[in-house]
Amino acid sequence: MVKSSPFVVFESPEAACKQVASEIAQIIRKRASLGRSTVLGLATGSTPIPLYQELIRLHREENLSFANVVTFNLDEYLGLDRDHPESYWTFMHRNLFDHIDLLPENIHLPSGMVPADEISAHCAGYEAAIVRAGGIDMQILGIGRTGHIGFNEPGTPIDSRTQRVHLNEITRQDAAPAFGGIENVPTQAITMGCGTILAARRIALLAWGEKKAEIVREAIEGIITDRVSASFLQTHRDATYFLDKESASALHL
Ligand code: GLP
Repeated sequence: MVKSSPFVVFESPEAACKQVASEIAQIIRKRASLGRSTVLGLATGSTPIPLYQELIRLHREENLSFANVVTFNLDEYLGLDRDHPESYWTFMHRNLFDHIDLLPENIHLPSGMVPADEISAHCAGYEAAIVRAGGIDMQILGIGRTGHIGFNEPGTPIDSRTQRVHLNEITRQDAAPAFGGIENVPTQAITMGCGTILAARRIALLAWGEKKAEIVREAIEGIITDRVSASFLQTHRDATYFLDKESASALHL
């Protein structure tokens, strides 16, 4: 059966992020009023930066508190220390965590420095921590040029869980400028699996710019296939693509 994923097209990334941030704020406030915490699944890359800026603005100007929020990031490069300038730990602190009232003990990212013989246990522990926290209420995603979500490169099964993965050549090329050359880009990472992501109650995938138009079209309109991990979102009952006009430009629907 061919099914497509719902999508909404906005004038600009900022307009789309205002909408996603307001949805996040609503969830946080509603759950806090019931005495419950909110579990957010977070992504890195350039795409979610305007979302994080808007969340920081809501915190500063509209009293949105993250004191009741628990976060789980999708992934981390293997071999990078937390303090490495390109680690996702550093990215998240620089772009969001250092500017809001999230409690340090509520922040979770896979460790990039876990010894090889402890990786499986570390991944199982990450999965268990998500379950203990109550599962992910809302998961934010970007999309790689290979159609990956998190670091789930082509060939990753729909039911995969948090695991060690090898990075695709295209993904490493895309990361090369930030690392000052492809030779400095890690070859492996730990990522939540496709199954981990699909277990979130709500999913928002963000994509901007013409560079993403073709892969967005494949993910939304194409068949559900492990060649494009994002196409698995078609099987989720509450996953929405938030696009700008450029990233939506190849859609036929
Ligand atoms: C990396 C991240 C993904 C992200 C992708 C796209 O591979 N692991 O989570 O979606 O980059 O990056 P950008 O948002 O910069 O296009």
